[in-house]
Amino acid sequence: MSSINIALDGPAAAGKSTIAKRVASRLSMIYVDTGAMYRAITYKYLQNGKPENFDYLINNTKLELTYDEVKGQRILLDNQDVTDYLRENDVTHHVSYVASKEPVRSFAVKIQKELAAKKGIVMDGRDIGTVVLPDAELKVYMIASVAERAERRQKENEQRGIESNLEQLKEEIEARDHYDMNRKISPLQKAEDAITLDTTGKSIEEVTNEILSLL
Ligand code: C5P
Repeated sequence: MSSINIALDGPAAAGKSTIAKRVASRLSMIYVDTGAMYRAITYKYLQNGKPENFDYLINNTKLELTYDEVKGQRILLDNQDVTDYLRENDVTHHVSYVASKEPVRSFAVKIQKELAAKKGIVMDGRDIGTVVLPDAELKVYMIASVAERAERRQKENEQRGIESNLEQLKEEIEARDHYDMNRKISPLQKAEDAITLDTTGKSIEEVTNEILSLL
């Protein structure tokens, strides 16, 4: 499937990255996690004491994606691998704000479009089907109930050794969705030609197979 691109969008913790990784590996395609790019910029924003001049921040930022056979996509921020810090609560709490800023979005979208130019990419995010890859051959909009998304995120956090509270996770997920859906630039929305896939109650294998059959 090196001649097509697949766009996977949807709200927070809907299982996009888990599914996108599986689909990519089954089709020998490359998985690109765009959320990690916004998280890396947010990490830098926090490290720099939350500067409000996003033009300056971005003009002095170097962001590269590399692939490790075992660990998958890695993010190099100013030549340093920051991937392991990107799921920290502080980053999660600020990422929607940082991702709403125009200089941040145009910087990330440019890199994403370049990565997908040669095709063979499964990309997940919020604006992939609408803005980054409007011509993607398959667009899926993944949704799931908030309760299930919070539970999945809690399990994921446990595995990563990050403490979390279920009720708090639900509130955070809802707040992040609300912010992402209502921002001025490229808000989270389903592309007109995307297929909605509700993953509530479905296993990873089931959802992966549904996407493969959609192809
Ligand atoms: O997918 P993930 O939860 O890691 O995304 C973190 C945040 O990055 C989202 O809540 C959203 O604010 C932002 N994001 C975005 N556009 C994308 C991917 C992520 O605005 N394509």
